[in-house]
Amino acid sequence: MTDTAVPPRKRLFIRTWGCQMNVYDSGRMADVLAPLGYGPAETPEEADMVILNTCHIREKAAEKVFSDLGRLRVMKEAKAEAGQKMVLAVAGCVAQAEGKEITARAPWVDIVLGPQTYHRLPEMVARASRAAGAQIDTDFPVEQKFDHLPEPAASQGPVAFLTIQEGCDKFCSFCVVPYTRGAEFSRPVAAILAEAKALVAGGAREIALLGQNVNAWHGEAPDGSTWNLTRLLYALAELADLPRIRYTTSHPRDMDEGLIRAHGAIPQLMPFLHLPVQSGSDRVLAAMNRGHKADLFLRICDELREARPDMALSSDFIVGHPGETAEDHAATMKLVERVGFALAYSFKYSQRPGTPAAGQPFQVAEDVKDARLQELQALLRQQQDGFNEDCVGRECEVLFTNPGRHPGQVMGRTPWLQPLHAEAPLSLIGTTARVRVTVRHPNSLRATLLDQKELALA
Ligand code: SAH
Ligand code: SF4
Ligand code: F3S
Repeated sequence: MTDTAVPPRKRLFIRTWGCQMNVYDSGRMADVLAPLGYGPAETPEEADMVILNTCHIREKAAEKVFSDLGRLRVMKEAKAEAGQKMVLAVAGCVAQAEGKEITARAPWVDIVLGPQTYHRLPEMVARASRAAGAQIDTDFPVEQKFDHLPEPAASQGPVAFLTIQEGCDKFCSFCVVPYTRGAEFSRPVAAILAEAKALVAGGAREIALLGQNVNAWHGEAPDGSTWNLTRLLYALAELADLPRIRYTTSHPRDMDEGLIRAHGAIPQLMPFLHLPVQSGSDRVLAAMNRGHKADLFLRICDELREARPDMALSSDFIVGHPGETAEDHAATMKLVERVGFALAYSFKYSQRPGTPAAGQPFQVAEDVKDARLQELQALLRQQQDGFNEDCVGRECEVLFTNPGRHPGQVMGRTPWLQPLHAEAPLSLIGTTARVRVTVRHPNSLRATLLDQKELALA
C-alpha cells in the first residue's frame, strides 16, 4: 500500500470453492469492493462482509455452502447483539443455480449473486444496507461484467490468473457449467493484453489463461479480425519479463494442429497440459456428449509429446456415469495405462439437478462407483508418484513464489506444476532459477540451487 492510499475502513472475507475461475472471480470481487473501503479480513469473525464464492459441480461441493451458512448465522447474530453488522453474500455457481432455495433456506443471507453480475456488487451492497430481505441478481446481463469491472488492483504475485473465456456451449450430459456460467463468451484481444501487461508490471512471471473452454477462445482483435488461442499465445510470448505461460481448461475437441505445434515453438509455454478426457470408453464418451472418441484423445497426447518431448499430461475422470459397465471402466483403465499421467483428478459421478444424465435410467450403484474410483485412483497415484520420482536427479527451472515453511526455505514450482522447495534466499521470490531435484516427498519435491551466480547476486 502506498502512503497516499486510504486505509480500509471495513473488512471483507471471501471463501472460495471450486475451480480457478472462482479464484480469479474472488479477486475481482475484492477489486470491485475496494473503492467502497473494504480491505481483507483474516477470518469471517472479524469481517464486516462475508462472501461465499460457491461451486455447484458436485453435490458435496454445493452442500458445504449450506453448512457454512449455518455457522455464519450464529456469527452474524452474535455481531448484531454487539451492535455490529455483517453483510452476508452468496456468489458463484450455487447462487446461480439455487438462488431462490438459498434465500428460502437461509433468510439471513443479504445478497445472492451469480457469476455474471459481480460488477453490480457495490450497488447491491448499498441496497442491502437500506432494505430488509435478500437482494438477488442471477441475470445473464447483456452488458459484460468485464467491461464494468475496475482494472485489477491487487497484484496477484509471481503466479497470476487471467480469465479470457467464460461459459460453455458444449452441454456434457453430467455438467452444470453451461447452466451456471451461461453461453461461451470470449474477451477481446486488447483487454486481455492490457491485463497481462498490468499483471507483469505487478510482478507476475507466470500467467495462466483461464476459461471453462479456454482453447475454444476466439477474441476480436483491434483490426476487427478474430484471433484464436494459438495467435494469442504467440502475442503473449512477445511480452518481456513473462517467462511462463499456461492455459486451462481445454477440451480435446478444440485441440487443433496449430495449438499442438505451438507447444513445440513457444518456449514460454510450459510443458504441462490439463486436458480432461472423463472416460476411456467410446460408448460412455458418446453418452456424455463429449463429441470425441478415446482415439482422438490418444492421438492428441502423442502429437503433444512429439511437439514437446518433455510434455506432462493431466486430466479429469468421472467413474460411474449412468450406463457405465465394467467393460467401459476397463477401457478407462486402459487409456490411463496407455497415456501415463503426471497428475489427474477423478470423481464419482454426481447426479446434478437439471442435467440430462441425472434423469437417465441405469444409474450406477454407489458401491460400484466406490470400487471403480479406488481402482482408478490407485493407478493414477502410482503414475503421479512415478512421474515425480523420475524428476529426482533432473535439472530444471523453478519459479520461486513464496517463503517455505522452514526458515531459509523458498517454495516454487517446476515447469510441470510440481510444488518444490529449496534452501534459497527470499530475494529469489518472483524469479526463475535453475535447480537440481534431490528428493521426492509425497506432495512436493526438494531441490538445490544450481546457479551460484544467483546466490551471489541475492
Ligand atoms: N470444462 C472442463 C471441466 C469443468 S468441471 C471440461 O470440459 O472438462 C471440472 C471437472 O469436474 C470435470 O472435468 C469433471 O471431471 C468433473 N465433473 C463435472 N460434473 C460432474 C458430475 N456431475 N459428477 C462428477 N464429476 C463432475
Ligand atoms: Fe462442463 Fe462439458 Fe462444458 Fe466442460 S465442456 S464445462 S465438462 S459441459
Ligand atoms: Fe464449480 Fe462453477 Fe467452477 S460449478 S467448477 S465454480 S464453473
